Amino acid sequence: MRILSLCCRHYRNLQDVSFFPQPGVNVIWGQNAQGKTNLLEAVWLFTGGHSFRGTKDSELVQHGSSGARLQLRFYSQEREQSAEIFLENSRRRAELNGVALRSPGRLVGHIHAVVFSPEHLSLVREGPANRRNFLDAALCQLKPSYVHLLNRYQRTLSQRNALLKDIPRHRELEDTLPIWDTKLAADGTRIVAERKSYLKLLACTATSVYSGLSHGKETLRLSYSCTADDLGAALQKGRLRDIRQGFTGEGPHRDDMEILLDNASARSCASQGQKRSIVLALKLAEASTLGKSTGETPIILLDDVLSELDSSRQDYLLNHLSKCQVFITCCEPAQTQILQSGGLFRAENGMIKPEQPNKVS
Ligand SMILES: Nc1ncnc2c1ncn2[C@@H]1O[C@H](COP(=O)(O)OP(=O)(O)OP(=O)(O)O)[C@@H](O)[C@H]1O
Ligand SMILES: [Mg+2]
Repeated sequence: MRILSLCCRHYRNLQDVSFFPQPGVNVIWGQNAQGKTNLLEAVWLFTGGHSFRGTKDSELVQHGSSGARLQLRFYSQEREQSAEIFLENSRRRAELNGVALRSPGRLVGHIHAVVFSPEHLSLVREGPANRRNFLDAALCQLKPSYVHLLNRYQRTLSQRNALLKDIPRHRELEDTLPIWDTKLAADGTRIVAERKSYLKLLACTATSVYSGLSHGKETLRLSYSCTADDLGAALQKGRLRDIRQGFTGEGPHRDDMEILLDNASARSCASQGQKRSIVLALKLAEASTLGKSTGETPIILLDDVLSELDSSRQDYLLNHLSKCQVFITCCEPAQTQILQSGGLFRAENGMIKPEQPNKVS
């Protein structure tokens, strides 16, 4: 999959931008607050999702304007296609190949992208919820049936938790607990199986990407860490504890993805640059897995990724990912010198202008 052009009108500070990227790596550089992340965010909206910065649609329209319009031309499934997004009166509308979609969410599955933004460092730095969400979000993109499974599990879990809180006041309710346990164990076991099989695919690529980033000097290992091997038995065994706590102590909602760098926990031992490299390896592995399953290499959006990385890691990102279309933002002109081929663009006051890449001899 490849973007041929993107036009932004009244989108944040991108008042009137026509952007024609190259097929491989595209670097957008410029000072702070010039519109680099805004451009990546505009591309991301075409995946059908919300802003990766968590901004409400109404705040995406340029201040003082009544609406924003984004037009994308892209190459996918062996043909040129187009998509448009309109943001007006806090509403989002979308068109695909000139046909209005019933909802903008219907863009999902037509334009695939993976995004890295500095907030995603929480994947390594913070608690297990971030890592579970990463696995779940990736699986939801790959398998629509997983969305239903996950939603049903969450509903059953909330109902079981509500029941656990009521039981101390109404002891007779305890008799209904086994019904919820059976439902929760069945869906929970399927979720764990799906996550484990996805992680197996992901880990293989993430390890090899990390090895490339670190020039073979460090080894990344990922594994799934379960709260219970037999969830049905664990729920039954933990009933009294769960009633006392008022919540369900075991199940996929408590599991984790363990990240080890050279056999030590990355969360506590990895350096800043290593943590950044790990998140990048995870995201690039996600892109590769998605590409294999859809048959289209997704667009890769890397926001502010180069800082904290040494020049050999920067070189890997700028010069070894050219099989995919990649968009990288950065602030330092020196970082752009490493780029050997591809597109170079300067972001300045909401304008995106092409520049001649500096060839490294
Ligand atoms: N709705 C809006 N209308 C007009 N301008 C906006 C709107 N939302 C954000 N901006 C402006 O966009 C600019 C920020 O753009 P962006 O986040 O893309 O910067 P950046 O180039 O990525 O900077 P940095 O290097 O700091 O990450 C800010 O000047 C901000 O005021
Ligand atoms: Mg930015």
